[in-house]
Amino acid sequence: MKGEGDDGMAYLVLDQLTKRFGNWTAVDHASLTVEKGELISLLGPSGCGKTTTLQMIAGFLDADGGRVTLDGKDLLAKKPNERGLGIVFQSYALFPHMTAAENVAFGLEMRKINRADRERMVADALKLVGLEQYGDRHPRRMSGGQQQRVALARALVIKPSLLLLDEPLSNLDAKMREEMQIELRRIQRTVGTTMILVTHDQSEAMALSDRVVVMNKGRIQQVATPQDAYDRPANAFVANFLGRTNLLPGMVGAGAGGGTVITVADSVWPVAQEVPAGPGALAVRPEKIGFVDAGGLSGTVLARVFQGTQWLFEIETAAGRLMVIRQHDGSPLPAERERVMVGWRPQDMAVMPADPDTASGVREAA
Ligand SMILES: Nc1ncnc2c1ncn2[C@@H]1O[C@H](COP(=O)(O)OP(=O)(O)OP(=O)(O)O)[C@@H](O)[C@H]1O
Ligand SMILES: [Mg+2]
Repeated sequence: MKGEGDDGMAYLVLDQLTKRFGNWTAVDHASLTVEKGELISLLGPSGCGKTTTLQMIAGFLDADGGRVTLDGKDLLAKKPNERGLGIVFQSYALFPHMTAAENVAFGLEMRKINRADRERMVADALKLVGLEQYGDRHPRRMSGGQQQRVALARALVIKPSLLLLDEPLSNLDAKMREEMQIELRRIQRTVGTTMILVTHDQSEAMALSDRVVVMNKGRIQQVATPQDAYDRPANAFVANFLGRTNLLPGMVGAGAGGGTVITVADSVWPVAQEVPAGPGALAVRPEKIGFVDAGGLSGTVLARVFQGTQWLFEIETAAGRLMVIRQHDGSPLPAERERVMVGWRPQDMAVMPADPDTASGVREAA
């Protein structure tokens, strides 16, 4: 199991890291443990504090509180250039008058590595990113994706103890971005460098990361594997941010036969998680919902839309509207205006306390 609380494996530790700009708290007591060799993504909407977090780790911004240790050593006490980190930003920031190979060699020259070693290391780094034929090219004669590979090679060639990537693929077109995602994952597997990737693209974070860190308004909302964050979101924000979900308001309390249950309109569901009694919300993904004969939530089909491989249903219930996706596999499905009952397996839902930010405690499905 990867996760917090396993201090023996802790490589990078953020402890209550905080940054304020005037009276705005951009990063609010962020705590996180990253294992050696892990690729972790900071994910969240614009302005949630991702870049600020990365810049404090890199040393480009001073923290207002908290600690960062790397391999047991206090990182914040060191100057940026003494931290031994590799950094790749959204803009490639290559030196335009230097070739790809010269760009990659730059950090090695600064470190006074001798010429023979340097040439070998540059060749290895260019090969790693698939640019062994491009050493003599200048950046202006390379595509965006190629330039970003050079930036990656330049960051990796110094064998950084930690690689920080801030939206490295966001300037690329969709196809190139997808290729580079696969490439980045392959490189990370090959060299085993610990990486922190900042992105606001949830599918990119899910595809690449060992774990995702979902942030909102400077606060870490959840740290989990992509699957766990998707299947068991910690709160309504995470449920809404990671893909399409249904959030239904309900009441958490003791069940008739013992155990905790959540009551949603005319249906009652067993709750496996620790959730306080009182107003709560139930999150369930559209593709996890099916039509059942009994023991579910009753409603009416408002709309059904054919989408090729699947059908999309909108169901009106006493707990609100919900979205249901069923595969187009020939099995009989209800018609519009039909009375139906919908259900799901208890393990496919997540229960959370009501969201204090919204009046009803839940948000509309995306
Ligand atoms: N130098 C600064 N002075 C004042 N406020 C700042 C400064 N830098 C960032 N902020 C504010 O801090 C918050 C977090 O900014 P940050 O750049 O970390 O967000 P982000 O999550 O990286 O967003 P994006 O996805 O848009 O890059 C924002 O509200 C931003 O306006
Ligand atoms: Mg940013």
